Amino acid sequence: MRIVLVGPPGAGKGTQAQFITSNLAIANISTGDLFRANVSQGTPLGIEAKKYMDSGDLVPDEVTIKMVRERLAEDDARDGFLLDGFPRNVPQAEVLGAMLDELGTRLHAVLELVVDDDEVVRRLAGRRTCRTCGTVWHVDFDPPTRDGVCDRCGGELFQRDDDREETVRHRLEVYNDQTAPLIAYYADLGLLIGIDATGPVEDVTERAIAALRPLNHDWS
Ligand code: AP5
Ligand code: MG
Ligand code: ZN
Repeated sequence: MRIVLVGPPGAGKGTQAQFITSNLAIANISTGDLFRANVSQGTPLGIEAKKYMDSGDLVPDEVTIKMVRERLAEDDARDGFLLDGFPRNVPQAEVLGAMLDELGTRLHAVLELVVDDDEVVRRLAGRRTCRTCGTVWHVDFDPPTRDGVCDRCGGELFQRDDDREETVRHRLEVYNDQTAPLIAYYADLGLLIGIDATGPVEDVTERAIAALRPLNHDWS
């Protein structure tokens, strides 16, 4: 199954991606995570991307598209994937459509996580991420047992540089200007499924799986 996950910063895309991809046994591909891995390794791609990420702007399309093209060519993506954070504007969506055409395949669904701006700001202000395994926590909504330590692997938790309040506000503007038009784009293609992404994490996962499972007979 091939899915795109869309929603504003802090909607819970990364949180839900972990559960959805393990439930459906598909590859979990997050462009934000790929960029952050490059930043922490100091690669040329990471150095280029960081300039944009720190201000909350989109990394240029040609850089992003090249990275996604390479990632989709890896073995684990052949039998299905969930894309978290890509596409992020209509030109990226058009390129993705063309890439899948070339591979003789297509998207099965675009899942939109629907939450309002106030909730997004609350979620991002308290987000902590594990430096070792990438698991996402929240100091109030999903706290680890010990402050600053990942329950899953014992790794150190950190706060993302782009979660400062003014950067969050800019990321929301960028989402509304550049990414929100994808909602209509994919609705026109008959691919859009919107789910309420408020409430406990497990409830959101249940809604997502309930929306996606019926499409499962239709893999190709
Ligand atoms: P990216 O990493 O994709 O950031 P984002 O879209 O801003 O989304 P986030 O990762 O901030 O939020 P999320 O929806 O994953 O929420 P999470 O699950 O963590 O992109 C970062 C940057 O990379 C961009 O700004 C851009 O520069 C660049 N980039 C990436 N892709 C690109 C592209 N295609 N083109 C160009 N540039 C690109 O959850 C948030 C918090 O809420 C957590 O603390 C979590 O524990 C908590 N939470 C989750 N669910 C719930 C719940 N149900 N109830 C309460 N709390 C919850
Ligand atoms: Mg994320
Ligand atoms: Zn961890």
